[in-house]
Amino acid sequence: MKIDILTLFPEMFAPLKESIIKRAVEDKKVEINIINIRDFANPPHYKCDDEPFGGGAGMVMLCEPLFKAIESVKTENSSIFYMSPRGKVFKQEIAREMSKLEHIILLCGHYEGIDQRVIDYFDIQELSIGDYVLTGGELAAMVVADSIIRLIPNVIRAESTVEESFSTNLLEYNQYTRPAEYRGMKVPDVLLSGHHKNIENWRKEQSLEITKRNRPDLLDKYKKKN
Ligand code: ADE
Repeated sequence: MKIDILTLFPEMFAPLKESIIKRAVEDKKVEINIINIRDFANPPHYKCDDEPFGGGAGMVMLCEPLFKAIESVKTENSSIFYMSPRGKVFKQEIAREMSKLEHIILLCGHYEGIDQRVIDYFDIQELSIGDYVLTGGELAAMVVADSIIRLIPNVIRAESTVEESFSTNLLEYNQYTRPAEYRGMKVPDVLLSGHHKNIENWRKEQSLEITKRNRPDLLDKYKKKN
């Protein structure tokens, strides 16, 4: 998979050079390119935004550098997403679908947004990471890239993505590791018992309880499916 990220702030993307994502890039499971939109703006000022027609607060990103930046990377196999609070809300289900794509272009806006003609011309899908407004799409693009890359086969162990939160509409159960007792707090006996069926049942109960407490909306979905 190839992910091209178009941004005015390329230096914000250092987190994608760490940990599991770093290893996925080194193992050639994914290629990530950070592309500076300003490189496609016109000299001498390399201006990338202007005031909105019709008035209003903030600035709008110009067509010209965005068209050229997109055209520099787009092929017939590209899927283009614009990070925006008015987009469809990003969920694990969407991450799974996106992890099968060949080429993803993530477009990051800043200021008030981008000229609508960019979205219309390239038939871009708008994607939000939640119901809050960020200063720009960069953090959102990193969230989306991270969650997609970990789902590419062999980036992490397949089992890890099966039982995790959201894949079954239940949140994940509590986890413990050594020591079995720390500052007087004991790990639940059942986890030390070696009895696989009892452990499985305990984890299921935990998941149900945590989901009921934190995300009753997910529990309703789970009950409808089971
Ligand atoms: N840009 C600003 N806010 C955003 C959000 N919630 N999701 C995606 N992109 C954004």
